[in-house]
Amino acid sequence: MSAGKLAGVIGWPVHHSLSPLMHSHWLKEHGIAGAYVALPIAPENFGRCVAAMPLMGFAGANVTVPHKEAAFALSASLDEDARATGAVNTLVLDGDAVHGHNTDVRGFAAALAESLGADAASRGPVTVLGAGGAARAVVLALARAGAPEIRLANRTRKRAEALAASLVSAARIGVRDWGDWGNAFEGAELLVNTTSLGMRGKDPLDLPLDDLPQTAAVADIVYNPLETRLLKTARERGHATMDGLGMLMHQAAPAFALWFGVTPKVTPGLREILTKALGNG
Ligand code: ATR
Repeated sequence: MSAGKLAGVIGWPVHHSLSPLMHSHWLKEHGIAGAYVALPIAPENFGRCVAAMPLMGFAGANVTVPHKEAAFALSASLDEDARATGAVNTLVLDGDAVHGHNTDVRGFAAALAESLGADAASRGPVTVLGAGGAARAVVLALARAGAPEIRLANRTRKRAEALAASLVSAARIGVRDWGDWGNAFEGAELLVNTTSLGMRGKDPLDLPLDDLPQTAAVADIVYNPLETRLLKTARERGHATMDGLGMLMHQAAPAFALWFGVTPKVTPGLREILTKALGNG
């Protein structure tokens, strides 16, 4: 009998990850003999960890903070989104060869279309907060989904300028000053937070939304807590909102398919399981 395939999430720290719960749910649902585990690996051990994985029967792994750039660097081949973002969140092992994928771009795009509608990105200008790795995936997804204009606002303006300059895209990408919200929000139809502000343990993102048009939707990629201060303020002002769980689930589904050969469904039942695990159920 086959021992089944293994997959996991490599991070540091990683004990709060919801990925084991999500992938284990899908393994069970599809009757696949396998397991998905959390692998807490310090940065200096990342390369050795990945090198040892084929020996232990791993089909691959997700990669999270702080290893996404290291995963990019050690991949022998890269999919289009990994190349475009400079980050790998999914490794596929084939013998000793390591293939790097990025499913965050598809994940954000699918979540956005599912919760805010297929035209959520293309309705008008989009304001994106942040310019880190998550912002790269989000901006790429927005540009592909037809955003006519993307405005980047980041605490460190230079990083936003570098991001805007590095993306070849049909969308007009401009930079706004962090704090100049009147300018960043004027006429916007979507606001997306990609910064780490609002995560449990960090400062909340306390933004005045007075200058955001009433028709604009507000998305946060933070999922713990599920309703961040930003989303609460937006909801109370009557904006349509999207939390970070959709992106988490939709980046996981294509990764699962790469390792186990079946595309699992993102369902309200799965959302309920994850919401409960976050302590909101
Ligand atoms: P990730 O890969 O998750 O995007 P990151 O590359 O560390 O992580 O980026 C974190 C983002 O949150 C950045 O845009 C960062 O702004 P800076 O580029 O100025 O560092 C933003 N961020 C983190 N703490 C912040 C704070 N206190 N105020 C404003 N922005 C903050």
